[in-house]
Amino acid sequence: MKSKLEQIRKDAIKAFEQATDPKTIEKLEKQFLGRKAELARIAKDIKKIAKDKRPEIGKLINEVKRDIASAVNKQRATSSAGASQTSSKFDYTLPGIAPATGHLHPITQFLEKIEDIFIKMGYEVVEGPELEDQKYNFDLLNVPEDHPSRDIQDTFYVSREDKKGRPYVLRTHTSPVQIRALESRKPPVRLLVPGRVFRNERTDAGHETTFYQCEALVIDKNIRVTDLIGTLELFIKRLYGDDVKIRVRPHFYPFTEPSLDVDMSCLLCGGKGCSFCKQSGWIETLGAGMVHPNVLKNMKVDPKEYSGFAFGLGIDRLMMLYYGVDDIRLSYSGDLRFIEQF
Ligand code: PHE
Repeated sequence: MKSKLEQIRKDAIKAFEQATDPKTIEKLEKQFLGRKAELARIAKDIKKIAKDKRPEIGKLINEVKRDIASAVNKQRATSSAGASQTSSKFDYTLPGIAPATGHLHPITQFLEKIEDIFIKMGYEVVEGPELEDQKYNFDLLNVPEDHPSRDIQDTFYVSREDKKGRPYVLRTHTSPVQIRALESRKPPVRLLVPGRVFRNERTDAGHETTFYQCEALVIDKNIRVTDLIGTLELFIKRLYGDDVKIRVRPHFYPFTEPSLDVDMSCLLCGGKGCSFCKQSGWIETLGAGMVHPNVLKNMKVDPKEYSGFAFGLGIDRLMMLYYGVDDIRLSYSGDLRFIEQF
């Protein structure tokens, strides 16, 4: 019996030493240590062995089992180490996969350029709510209840109502923030108000129901129209370069008096006239004016002591000119093929 066990041990260790692939190792493990293996049969039949020999044989059975088990483990370790060295297809010299990172939307990037220019001129950047009370969006800005400009600025209404039973509106411009900001400030002020605004528009390449504006408000002693025009000229030149010219035309806004519309020379044709500027050489850029005395009063500012100017820029169109985008709707499409170009 002893020699038989020794033979099994020798055979097993030799067999494992020659086995290299995991499948053979598994087969051999079953053959030598499985339930139907000779070793198992001997262990089961131990009762048939003379009582005085049993301890010795039992001990030898355990030893053989242990030795075979360690041969299995050893062989398994070397075969898997070998496999990972020889069969791996990983090429360590290939460049890595760059992690996908996002970035700011082109409108935000462009807004930050504008903010930089005004912050350098000493302006404070403030924001206001997108859902507005009609009092702020129209009344306090000197827009009478039945004024036609309320139709031009038709927008989205929500079911929440103000004290007069009028629905709240998605703000049609950033001008209401002029009033809100002066509730907690006293002149002199220099404010810049970027933000999202909403109008009932039929969308096309140049119009969206949602777009961005940037409002500026300056109130101090002796602020004049020339301060407004000088500021606008400096701003446009800092943004688009010294070659760009501006021109002002009289206009009407209820919240400014006098009111101006400001154009800049077309960036695409340099003012000669092209299809983008409808052959005029000029591009409508912003609305502006001197803050109306009624609006100053609504801000609790004395029009005899203070004066101010305000202007509102449409950000989207200026951004499109800056980057050469030809359809405003791309901005809000969420299409990565567009976004990833910036
Ligand atoms: N709020 C005006 C608009 O959206 C723009 C504007 C702002 C005009 C400030 C004059 C002064 O059309």
